[in-house]
Amino acid sequence: MVLVPTMGALHQGHAALVRRAQTLAGKGGTVIVSIFVNPAQFGPKEDLSRYPRPFANDKRLCATLGVNAIFHPSSGEMYRADSSTWVEESAVSSGLCGVSRPGHFRGVCTVVLKLFAIVQPDAAVFGLKDFQQCRVIARMVRDLDLPVRLVFAPTVRERDGLALSSRNAYLSPEERAGAPTLRRALLAARAAFLKGERSATKLRQIATRQISKIARVDYIEVVDASTLAPTRTPCASDTMAVAAFFGRTRLIDNIQL
Ligand code: PAJ
Repeated sequence: MVLVPTMGALHQGHAALVRRAQTLAGKGGTVIVSIFVNPAQFGPKEDLSRYPRPFANDKRLCATLGVNAIFHPSSGEMYRADSSTWVEESAVSSGLCGVSRPGHFRGVCTVVLKLFAIVQPDAAVFGLKDFQQCRVIARMVRDLDLPVRLVFAPTVRERDGLALSSRNAYLSPEERAGAPTLRRALLAARAAFLKGERSATKLRQIATRQISKIARVDYIEVVDASTLAPTRTPCASDTMAVAAFFGRTRLIDNIQL
């Protein structure tokens, strides 16, 4: 049985994870999609209440894709009022999004572990769009000896390069027009790396210059793909990760150099 954890507002990025899960599950295998907007991973000033919840559409998409079951619990079913146990990964979570979203990965780890415990899947599929999330969950599964195989799937993008995200719906037309800059800036940094640039500072400058023209950069880092520790002299397996605010909407993306 293969699980695809989501918060709903499903798009073609999620659909790609489902198809990957179906291949993994094999003929006659079972694919379960969980849809739960996890309050524990939203900060007090974040978008929990306005996060989209189009459950009827999600159900229809899952049916079209041939998903076998949807797990769609309420907050009360997932968290008792006096829940007092949390799962905290403390190294891979500490940089990048962990800095600007304190407590976020604690919420993610806790809910993902709970989903694994409830659904008991043989495997689970996650998207590399949330690169740090993939690494944090991999570390948790390793450290806690969880009997689940993790599979990471590539980022699905719009034709202009913008990574699909439920949060893209928040963008105004102007913000939406500027948002592909994230991808373009990462491609420019990688192009410089491939031409021989080996200074992380220079690569970050290349990306920052492009993005800061139209958005507020939260972070741009070059990191080791497994530990997420910043690298000064990047190698090809390193990842450049970026987060930037387009208006009030925070978008993330990443690229392997
Ligand atoms: P959510 O943002 O709904 O994403 C669910 C899964 O879809 C994640 O693994 C995410 O990386 C993947 N995904 C999102 N956009 C994608 C894209 N454009 N291409 C490929 N995959 C994409 O991530 C979460 O929910 C939550 O943190 C969760 C893991 C469900 C825990 O609450």
